[in-house]
Amino acid sequence: MHNAAFGVLGMDWIYVAFDVLPGEVRKALEGIKALGMRGINVTVPHKGEAFTSVDVLTPEAEATEAVNTVVVEDGRLVGYNTDVYGFRRALMEAGFRPLPDKVVLLGAGGAARAVAYAIGTSEGVEEVVVLNRTEERAERLAEEMGMRTGRKFLPGPLSEDALVEAMDGAGLLVNATSVGMHPDVDSSPLPSAEVLRPGLWVYDIVYVPPRTKLVRQAEGRGAKAVGGTDMLVYQGARAFRLWTGLEPPVEVMRRALLEALGAR
Ligand SMILES: NC(=O)c1ccc[n+]([C@@H]2O[C@H](COP(=O)([O-])OP(=O)(O)OC[C@H]3O[C@@H](n4cnc5c(N)ncnc54)[C@H](OP(=O)(O)O)[C@@H]3O)[C@@H](O)[C@H]2O)c1
Repeated sequence: MHNAAFGVLGMDWIYVAFDVLPGEVRKALEGIKALGMRGINVTVPHKGEAFTSVDVLTPEAEATEAVNTVVVEDGRLVGYNTDVYGFRRALMEAGFRPLPDKVVLLGAGGAARAVAYAIGTSEGVEEVVVLNRTEERAERLAEEMGMRTGRKFLPGPLSEDALVEAMDGAGLLVNATSVGMHPDVDSSPLPSAEVLRPGLWVYDIVYVPPRTKLVRQAEGRGAKAVGGTDMLVYQGARAFRLWTGLEPPVEVMRRALLEALGAR
């Protein structure tokens, strides 16, 4: 995605991948300064370690306690979380606006934190129900995001009863669990698909495959559903802008991403 963008803009830049062991993130980050790199992305499982290793945090990184993009500014490591922007922009581009009063969020892992913060700071949202397999994690996330955003966050287990109750009056359902992700492509995070109905918006942040079982279930029941590719494109586009100061060629990036995903 980034190399395609550098190529089309005729930039002599390159994006490369490095495997870094847990516990080595701080050293890796010091290394990028020494190597004269402009910045990096950080992915699972290192976003939390990057959060505690950078010199400066932006508000989104602080709120989510996760850093997915680092920019070297005047010799200092500045940590961003562009997943928040990526998710918000993907919702807007899908036409999911204005957001409804009530949103149901499935999951309480790293990505769910970015999604919860993005939703909790969006205009119009009054209540967010967070359902997770491990209920204590939903409780922690709901309490913390409620405090950070001032919105009502209610936790619960990811059970059929809790889902049916949560979906009553909800206009948007977001999956931020990893259920349905390759190779588990025949699984859906929903204990019951009965909650899907015409008029409901469904956003699945899983992007491999681009059309998950949840997206297919939702469309089959008349809901409007979108997969996670756009969130990935827009978090990348934001990082591109932060590193280069240039307008990202979003369509080129999207095409390169879809080609790479199709190649799996
Ligand atoms: N589109 C994008 O740009 C984007 C960005 C970031 C992440 N993602 C995707 O988002 C997904 C989650 O990533 P993450 O970083 O948040 O992972 P994570 O921190 O490991 O969290 C995983 C979440 O999925 C839940 N889960 C896992 N297996 C489950 C199962 N069998 N049944 C019910 N719940 C289950 C976990 O519940 P427990 O708490 O009970 O373990 C937890 O809430 C991944 O598929 C990732 O690729 C997409």
